[in-house]
Amino acid sequence: MSEKLKVKIKDIEFASPVIAASGTFGFGVEYSDIVNLDDFGAIVTKGISLLPREGNPPPRIVETPCGLINSIGLANPGTDAFIETYKDIYENFPTKVIVNIGAETGEEFLTIIEKIEKMNVIGYEINISCPNVEKGGMMFSEDPNQTYSLIRHIRNSTNKLIITKLSPNFCNIKELAKASEEAGSDAISLVNTFLGMSVDIETGDSRIGKLFGGFSGPAIKPMALKMVYDTVRTVKIPVIGIGGINSGSDAVEYLLVGAQMVQVGSAIFKNPQIAFDINNFLEKYIERKGFSNIKGIIGTFKGSRYE
Ligand SMILES: Cc1cc2nc3c(=O)[nH]c(=O)nc-3n(C[C@H](O)[C@H](O)[C@H](O)COP(=O)(O)O)c2cc1C
Repeated sequence: MSEKLKVKIKDIEFASPVIAASGTFGFGVEYSDIVNLDDFGAIVTKGISLLPREGNPPPRIVETPCGLINSIGLANPGTDAFIETYKDIYENFPTKVIVNIGAETGEEFLTIIEKIEKMNVIGYEINISCPNVEKGGMMFSEDPNQTYSLIRHIRNSTNKLIITKLSPNFCNIKELAKASEEAGSDAISLVNTFLGMSVDIETGDSRIGKLFGGFSGPAIKPMALKMVYDTVRTVKIPVIGIGGINSGSDAVEYLLVGAQMVQVGSAIFKNPQIAFDINNFLEKYIERKGFSNIKGIIGTFKGSRYE
C-alpha cells in the first residue's frame, strides 16, 4: 500500500485510515480467506463482554431500502474464551487489532481490560452505549460525569490506545466527547447505530426479534457526518468517523470534515473488499488534488464561511 495513506493516532502508525467497524468483521480471521486483512489500517473486534452472551432472539438483522436494522444483543464468547481463542492468532496477525468492549458497570470494563492487557492488541474501543442490550452501558452516555469517571478509570489502568465510541441516540454528544477527552481518551469514534424499528404489516409484529434495533448503512451517513463535523470542532483529540460509508468518496467526506480515520461497517457485508477499494480511491483522489499524502486533505472542508 502507498506510504501516502499513513496516519498516526497517539504514537501508533496505521498503514491506511480505513478500519473495520465492530460487529461487522467478526474477529478478523473469519474474513482472512477472502480479504487481505492488511488492506485495513486496523480492525475492531465484535464487542466483548465479561461473560459469554447468547444475544437477542432472531431475526437479528432486517434489511431496509437504505440500511440494516440489527439486534444482535452483543452475542459474544465472553472475555476468557475470546482470549483463549485469539491470543495466539493475534500474536502474528496481518493488521492491528482493537478490542471493542461492551459492559454494564465500570468494574466490568476494568476487569475485561485487565484480562486482555497481555494480548497483542493495540487498544480498546469503549462502547458506552449499546442500543441492543437492556443495560448496554446506557448510564455512561446519559451523564458526562459518568463518562468522565469511566474513561478516567480505564486510562489509569492501561497505556494502550483508548477510543471512546459514542452513540447518536443521546443529544449530549459534544459534552460526552469533551468528557472523554478530559478523562484521557486518545480518540473518539462515532457513530454507533441509530435506534430504529420495522413492522411486518401481515403479522402486525416487529420484523426483528426485539422491538427496536440499531440502524446503520447509507441512510445514516448525512446525520453521522454532521455529528462527526460537530465533534471535530469540540475536541482536540482525533475523531474517527463512522456511519454509512459505502465508497471512497463517502470516506473522503468524513476526512474533509476533519475525521483522521474512518470505520466501515454494514458495507462490508456487501463488499468485503471495500477497504481495498477505498484505499485505491484515496490514493487517486490525493494525487488528483495535488497533495503528497492524506494529511493534505484532512479537515480541509471549506466550512468556515458558514461559521
Ligand atoms: C451487525 C452489526 C453488529 C454490530 N455490533 C457492534 C458491537 O458489538 N459494538 C459496537 O460498538 N458497534 C457495533 N455495531 C455498530 C457498527 O460498529 C457501526 O458503528 C455502525 O454499524 C455504523 O456504521 P455503518 O453505517 O458503516 O454500518 C454493529 C453494527 C452491525 C450492523
